[in-house]
Amino acid sequence: MSSDNQIIHGFSKMNSNEKLELFIKKHSNPKEALELFKSFHHKNNKIQQLLEDFSENTVTNFPLPYSICPNVLLNGKSLLVPMVIEESSVVAAAANSAKFWFTRGGFKTEIIDTEKIGQVHFLWNDDKQLLIDRFDELKDVLNKDCFDITENMVRRGGGINSIELRDLSDEEPGLMQLYARFETIDSMGANFINSCLEQFKSSFEKWHQNQPEFRKDGLEVIMCILSNYTPNCKVRCTVETTIDQLDGVVKGMTGKEFARRFRLGVRIAEVDSHRATTHNKGIMNGIDSVILATGNDFRAVEACAHTYASRSGKYSSLSHCEIKDDKFVFSLEIPFAVGVVGGLTNLHPLVKLSLELLDNPSAQEVMSIAATIGLANNFSAVKNLVTVGIQQGHMKMHLLNILNQLEVPEKFKPEIIEYFKDKVVSVSSVRNLAEKRNMIPKEYINQSYDK
Ligand code: MEV
Repeated sequence: MSSDNQIIHGFSKMNSNEKLELFIKKHSNPKEALELFKSFHHKNNKIQQLLEDFSENTVTNFPLPYSICPNVLLNGKSLLVPMVIEESSVVAAAANSAKFWFTRGGFKTEIIDTEKIGQVHFLWNDDKQLLIDRFDELKDVLNKDCFDITENMVRRGGGINSIELRDLSDEEPGLMQLYARFETIDSMGANFINSCLEQFKSSFEKWHQNQPEFRKDGLEVIMCILSNYTPNCKVRCTVETTIDQLDGVVKGMTGKEFARRFRLGVRIAEVDSHRATTHNKGIMNGIDSVILATGNDFRAVEACAHTYASRSGKYSSLSHCEIKDDKFVFSLEIPFAVGVVGGLTNLHPLVKLSLELLDNPSAQEVMSIAATIGLANNFSAVKNLVTVGIQQGHMKMHLLNILNQLEVPEKFKPEIIEYFKDKVVSVSSVRNLAEKRNMIPKEYINQSYDK
């Protein structure tokens, strides 16, 4: 066995310097790598410690761009929306779209519901009817025993909304579940829900043991966990305008022609799952960036959105477009759960600033803002796709990345950007120009970067 295959003991107990020392020799230039890793440490030790404590085995920070989307008119209020995302052109696309809709009534949102879900999955190896008959009694016990956990949440207007018994024994012998609905107000609710569910488990087991008519070995709880699929924690976001307001959106195209092609662009994503995946990915570009900037869990939001997009049994578009008489209506309906208390929201200094920038929104308002940016990005993407094509706008933004990749000095950048104003951007075309004009370091000459 090579020394590389030795188990490492106590890694999590080392400080970040010790951890770095342990693996830095793997890098081609350990000294340079070490310096680079350390250069990303925050200069304020307290903040660095805070960041390290968010996770395990942290060795440095991994920064992402923090951007602002201006001119977001949402339910009549103008917002500056923070977006954390690394992909070039997403913020520009959202900002273009926000500005476009600013003068056409802006975005309107409606919270459809805010219900969260948790489940206790168990095997029932006994008479099912017996459990069904006694379920109301069990429910009272479950609710009562959770009092200490729910007291605060109830005071804030939330708590356990309902507990249902669900039977999945057709799928797996004996499989059943307690399916509970919760209201968690301004928190995403993961800790609250999971605590309630684990209390349900102990109460259920205790109650079960005390019922003489049940078999002692009739209940086996398998697991308790919230569900990230919250189809009833949902927001609808809409933009609408008259067709004549779309005249000239794209040079040389009437509003009517633009609306017709745009609706078809969305329709393709409704009927074709391959297109729907990319279409929805464009929506999630905007949503995730707000979710990250506000310290929320983008994996949970993604998981929920894609399950919802598959609810008919076929993965489909999350947004829809309708042309009714002279009206163009474009909307997005999407469920996901977010919080503005708990988790990172009270800890990450930039999350606190994001929330301040948004006037300390409620969880429902964060849902609205994230959905708005999702729809804004979707509008820009489909608009470009059905008119000029995606590469024009995309590659213009990508040009900045290419220039950085080729290490073109700042002083030459404006000249190259000007040159490519009306030309097709590719890594090789940029490299050729920069090479010809002696603008890039030697080592980048003749290398291929085109993806
Ligand atoms: C790129 O990140 C997102 C798009 O592909 C979305 C879409 O195709 O609708 C532009």
